[in-house]
Amino acid sequence: MSQNRIFTLKGSKSPNKWINILYNIPEALTPLVNPETSEPIPLEMLYKIFAKELVDQEINTKDEFIKIPDEVRDIYSLYRPTPLIRATFLEKALDTPAKIYYKWEGVSPSGSHKPNTAIPQAYYNKKEGILKLTTETGAGQWGSALSFACNQIGIECLVFMVRASYEQKPYRKLMMQTYGGKVIPSPSDQTKIGRELLKDKNNYKGSLGMAISEAVELAMERDDTHYTLGSVLNHVLLHQTIVGEESRLVMEEIGDYPDIVIGCVGGGSNFGGMIIPFIKENLTKGKKTRFIAVEPKACPTLTKGKYAWDYGDTGKLIPPALMYTLGHSFVPPPVHAGGLRYHGASPLLSYMRHKGMVESVGLFQNEVFEKAVLFAKTESLIVAPESAHAVTVAINEALKCKETKEEKTILFNCSGHGHFDMAAYEQFFNGALEDYDYPKENIEEALKDLPKINFPPKK
Ligand SMILES: Cc1ncc(COP(=O)(O)O)c(C=O)c1O
Repeated sequence: MSQNRIFTLKGSKSPNKWINILYNIPEALTPLVNPETSEPIPLEMLYKIFAKELVDQEINTKDEFIKIPDEVRDIYSLYRPTPLIRATFLEKALDTPAKIYYKWEGVSPSGSHKPNTAIPQAYYNKKEGILKLTTETGAGQWGSALSFACNQIGIECLVFMVRASYEQKPYRKLMMQTYGGKVIPSPSDQTKIGRELLKDKNNYKGSLGMAISEAVELAMERDDTHYTLGSVLNHVLLHQTIVGEESRLVMEEIGDYPDIVIGCVGGGSNFGGMIIPFIKENLTKGKKTRFIAVEPKACPTLTKGKYAWDYGDTGKLIPPALMYTLGHSFVPPPVHAGGLRYHGASPLLSYMRHKGMVESVGLFQNEVFEKAVLFAKTESLIVAPESAHAVTVAINEALKCKETKEEKTILFNCSGHGHFDMAAYEQFFNGALEDYDYPKENIEEALKDLPKINFPPKK
């Protein structure tokens, strides 16, 4: 007899509000600060590059929930609610007593969770009369999501794509172009910072930190242009709570609840969005769910980084925030999970990690691809290298349950499909993937370069 495997919310109704965890933990809100004075950056400066409504969401500690605008829900309805899937084929292959569920965000038009925030960001900017959005993209998922969202909302989109990915992933670039996005390899000669970076040939392949600097520079220069970030910031995690809240509600409908929630972490948005509704229940209802953030050993921000003030980008245009960081000048080894190669992590998630509310673990990429192939052969989904990090830890936790004979319920966020990542799978099949360990010396070197911040400033 076949078991029920796919669960969507009754009436296919996605929630109409995002969950603002800053209401429950207002102390997790720390400002961006001026590196010279350690004073908080005035909101007016943030309004210069971000939509006002997004900045207001960023610092909102008053509202427990934020209503999702109808126009945003309308576009969400192209793919939401996404399915919650019980991984029965995988469970059987592992012969585990654990129940494994995953939220499948790969069904979105651009193939990942990223449109959940791209749509509201494009919407609020358009509402304010902004004509163009700039952004950066690493592996291409965020750039694709923003191009799709801007096309739906009717606003221009300019994407600086890390040159290494631009060359490796021509189809991601074409996807952005199909939706009408303009794509520029970074570093480029289109910005002052790009031209400066190009003077050193070591910078030629680019990094997320460099691409952010270029995108921010253009937004600072023009009144009709704003910058958007696909991760890290509080408002991005807020929008991503749609993932965790749909999961929580549908599990309630089927009478289950997770003991462990797992997600991969680049800047922290899919993991943050998945766990926040459950963190809220730990805080307010005495639940005891464990949360595991997964990263590459090559870029172990939450596992080996320092909880300190640091810039969000290489060019130091994004003012220092309090977060786990490997140092803004750290360039991680070229692991295939491009979306997990960021030196920092969301300040909100960093706070939760700092307070011991979440755990973290780092993985080698060969193990990650091995488990991704097992997932493809059982559940039949080919996942993004980033999402495969979450798959791996879900499998490892289920195998632990086999040893201890515990019937735990494991939930993970399966953040995207890997259809544009087959070159990485090919390298794995050819035995050509390198396992980069924790790059201790490079990190120690980069951490020497942290800004000296005294917050709150001593008068
Ligand atoms: C499929 C996928 N998962 C996860 C991530 C990591 O980002 P975040 O930590 O913001 O979810 C990315 C980033 O590009 C991604 O493309």
